[in-house]
Amino acid sequence: MKNLIAASILSADLANLAQDIHTCEQAGIDWIHVDAMDGHFVPNLTMGAVIVKACRQSTSLPIDCHLMVEKPETLVQDFAMAGASSITIHPENNPNIHRTLQLIKDLGCLAGVALNPGTHSTVIEPLLPFIDMVLVMTVNPGFSGQSFIPQMITKVKKVSELIHHMERPVRLEVDGGINAGNISSVRAAGADTFVSASSIFSYPSGINEGIAALKLALG
Ligand code: DX5
Ligand code: ZN
Repeated sequence: MKNLIAASILSADLANLAQDIHTCEQAGIDWIHVDAMDGHFVPNLTMGAVIVKACRQSTSLPIDCHLMVEKPETLVQDFAMAGASSITIHPENNPNIHRTLQLIKDLGCLAGVALNPGTHSTVIEPLLPFIDMVLVMTVNPGFSGQSFIPQMITKVKKVSELIHHMERPVRLEVDGGINAGNISSVRAAGADTFVSASSIFSYPSGINEGIAALKLALG
């Protein structure tokens, strides 16, 4: 599976979003990652389908939407219509996740399931036949700029083993505190898709250099 880097626009300059996305694209980013938070599932309120639409008008790159919301089934259609390529939802507090994953697929998007640090890796097992991606959160969801939780490497390994039993490709994405210092160890544990906000948009010498540093560390 090809390694991919996704830029989370949570740390982008939202007053110049199109420019920041363009800079990422020029630097060879693979995906744009949109973090939707509703102020209930997580203690932060961020962006919705209108921002996905704005991203879609700025780039033809895949737009990877991470929904940290209650009742994602009420929002997935809007995200798909706005131009989402993949939609990832959480199993925590979501008894109808299987139905919502089917809805995401019916809408023509790739479907993903994200696991909070406190959620056991086996939660993914019954859902694997129905999804395209597992997202292992390497921080508690809600904010960019938090520190990577090193114990999550073990969970990445466990999820990677579960994925290897599947007969079709399923991506293993990691999200939270990913930087040039830890990206290769997460890759060695089995991850193939790496989300970063602050190591790209808050990189001291700029977005280009931030993406270059991640790519260099990935090898
Ligand atoms: C956290 C979000 C992440 C976040 C990553 O809840 O899901 O995508 O933007 O930010 P960094 O890379 O700064 O940890
Ligand atoms: Zn995210």
